[in-house]
Amino acid sequence: MTEKVQTKPNSGKMWGGRFAEKTAASVEAFTASIHYDCRLYRYDIAGSRAHARMLARQGLISSVELDEIIAGLELIEKEIDQGEFVFRPELEDIHMNIEKTLMEKIGPAGAKLHTARSRNDQICLDIRLYLRETTAEFDQLLIGVQHSLLKLARTYLGSVMPGYTHLQRAQPVLISHHLLAYYEMFKRDRQRLADGLKRINVLPLGAAALAGTGLPIDRKFVAEELGFPAVSANSMDTVGDRDFAIEFSAACTLIQLHLSRMSEELVLWASEEFSFVELADSFCTGSSIMPQKKNPDIPELIRGKSGRVVGNLMALITLLKGLPLTYNRDLQEDKEPLFDTIDTVGQGLAIMAELLANLKFNTETLERATVGGYMTATDLADYLVKKNIPFRQAHAIVGQTVAFCIEHDKELPDLSLAELRRFSAEIDDDVFAVLTVSGSVNSRTSLGGTAESMVAEALAAAENDLGKLL
Ligand code: ARG
Repeated sequence: MTEKVQTKPNSGKMWGGRFAEKTAASVEAFTASIHYDCRLYRYDIAGSRAHARMLARQGLISSVELDEIIAGLELIEKEIDQGEFVFRPELEDIHMNIEKTLMEKIGPAGAKLHTARSRNDQICLDIRLYLRETTAEFDQLLIGVQHSLLKLARTYLGSVMPGYTHLQRAQPVLISHHLLAYYEMFKRDRQRLADGLKRINVLPLGAAALAGTGLPIDRKFVAEELGFPAVSANSMDTVGDRDFAIEFSAACTLIQLHLSRMSEELVLWASEEFSFVELADSFCTGSSIMPQKKNPDIPELIRGKSGRVVGNLMALITLLKGLPLTYNRDLQEDKEPLFDTIDTVGQGLAIMAELLANLKFNTETLERATVGGYMTATDLADYLVKKNIPFRQAHAIVGQTVAFCIEHDKELPDLSLAELRRFSAEIDDDVFAVLTVSGSVNSRTSLGGTAESMVAEALAAAENDLGKLL
């Protein structure tokens, strides 16, 4: 016996039972998210599969119904994969587009899929699955950039360049040391993503709308099906929580900042003024009016795209501020900023790996840039410290020596021993070894320092770490 209850015309929606009027077209357009949440279809379907298996196991649907649901979902997935599926904005979002199509394809069994489930926990599941996969992809992309950095560091091991503070030449360093600084930054990015994954990788399904369900579900089974090591503890927190998305977006923002800082250096270094590097022609563009131009558009664009990534993080944070528990429709606004960050940072990482793989350093220019500018002044001070002169006093002595050099248009290594001894009687002819660029660089053997011995060790360790992952 089938009951037919239809006392008033309803809106035609899956949730339309209590509605007497059709939804206004403007409302449909305003509330629809299908044009962007359609990218979640694979996760939505994976979640539905696991949910249906659980329902069958718990006797909430029959095994025949389960088979029908699984077959129907597979059909839908294939149609979407092949671009044959027609997304309907009037069905709002990815969840209802799939569920409604399933009902149309398989009939009554399709109407049982949403048992003990709400779109509120379903959307959390989809995002978590998506971010889990993206975390793994980003790790690979970060490894790609690190790989390019290590190759450069290996190629140029031993070559020097000026190290800067305040964008003023400070002390000579190895090019490889500079490159390995970025290796470390991206290593922290990978650690941050891995840490965030612990909080992403928690099953939300089963929280239902906000309070859990009275139906006999088995959340642990669903968690196992979907590879979640943990199940969320509080149903109200579960459907209102987007901390994990904010954390992910923050981790991506730091990646973007690292890419952007590197881009800034590349733009500077590729300029005529620095001429430190040569970007491959295939990674530059020309000017429509100035025939001589070769512009570093890729690093410029990466740097420029930082604005949207930072903006997306701000959008997410602002979205959550002041939201009462639990689910609010505001939360639908989490997706576009999150997706845009993923697209932007993912593209930036991929192209940066390629750009670095095609980068050349002008080692002679770089070496020339380390000569002059009194960059070994600290070495002279350290030399005096080794002769038992207190550092502050040594600093003053070297300051006076540099002033003398400026006055006489000389560099420190140009001074004779007699000239040097005017500033300190402790200076002997062994001083000239520390005033050279290579003497300066190779004296910095402190842990994490720029001496070639230390950098070679750091490089080998990084290559070994990364080698295990490639
Ligand atoms: N499209 C919605 C979102 O992204 C899914 C959840 C909708 N839930 C609801 N009760 N309207 O947040």
